[in-house]
Amino acid sequence: MAVTNPIGVFDSGVGGLSVLRDIRNELPGEDLLYVADSAHAPYGEKSPEFIQARALAITEFLLEQQAKAIVVACNTATSAAAAILRARFSVPIIAMEPAVKPAALSTQTGVVGVLATRGTLSSDNFAKLTSRFGEHAEILVQPCPGLVEQIEAGDLSGEKTKALLTQYLQPLLQRHADTIVLGCTHYPFLVPLIQEIAGSKVVIIDPAPAVARELHRRLAGSSLLSPKVDGGRQHFWTSAAVTKTGPIIAQLWGAKIKVQSLPVAFY
Ligand code: DGL
Repeated sequence: MAVTNPIGVFDSGVGGLSVLRDIRNELPGEDLLYVADSAHAPYGEKSPEFIQARALAITEFLLEQQAKAIVVACNTATSAAAAILRARFSVPIIAMEPAVKPAALSTQTGVVGVLATRGTLSSDNFAKLTSRFGEHAEILVQPCPGLVEQIEAGDLSGEKTKALLTQYLQPLLQRHADTIVLGCTHYPFLVPLIQEIAGSKVVIIDPAPAVARELHRRLAGSSLLSPKVDGGRQHFWTSAAVTKTGPIIAQLWGAKIKVQSLPVAFY
């Protein structure tokens, strides 16, 4: 495996771009491949079997593009499929974990709110996390149906997005949560709106920087780090229509980019 091979990253849609952004900052010389499975978003309400099949197909596609490591930039896919990917493939597989630990250890009110999909909140992984850190703080969970669809449509601050987010944050704030964990990679794009609704004192925790650092460590540990220190490129694919998802990916990435269609075999 060449150290200059790219890193493959995927999500149910555009949410994983919030993780890709931190990977780009952490590893400026690496080439990055990103797959947005937007034709199948949201994963949050789908069966684990469906998500496993998508995760396997997309990982195989990324490995065909010579990926030297895979980042599952999706909490829902992590819960459903990370263990299967690790058992099946030999490249390093880095995945998400809602940041319950740092939140539970740093809350001042003793109450933490977790925003995530139903898939993540009902997973064994999440149950283990809350039972490990539940003694340090009260952990309130809030599924957020509809929010991923708003972000997939590029609506980060419109009336409907604001109304949904207010509805989801209110019960947490009423119970004095002072720390909000973003347990879905789509939600970091809503940080300004969350802060506006919840107030500037509420602490929002996004695990993406920690995931990017973990990727850095894993690549270094496997002698897979690129010697290039800058100039890394990125390539984007989507399973939805490029004309529809392409502009949203460009909007969230913050640059004019080319987005390709995921090959038919992977639909
Ligand atoms: N971005 C995803 C996550 O982190 C998936 C959301 C979804 O597709 O429902 O959970």
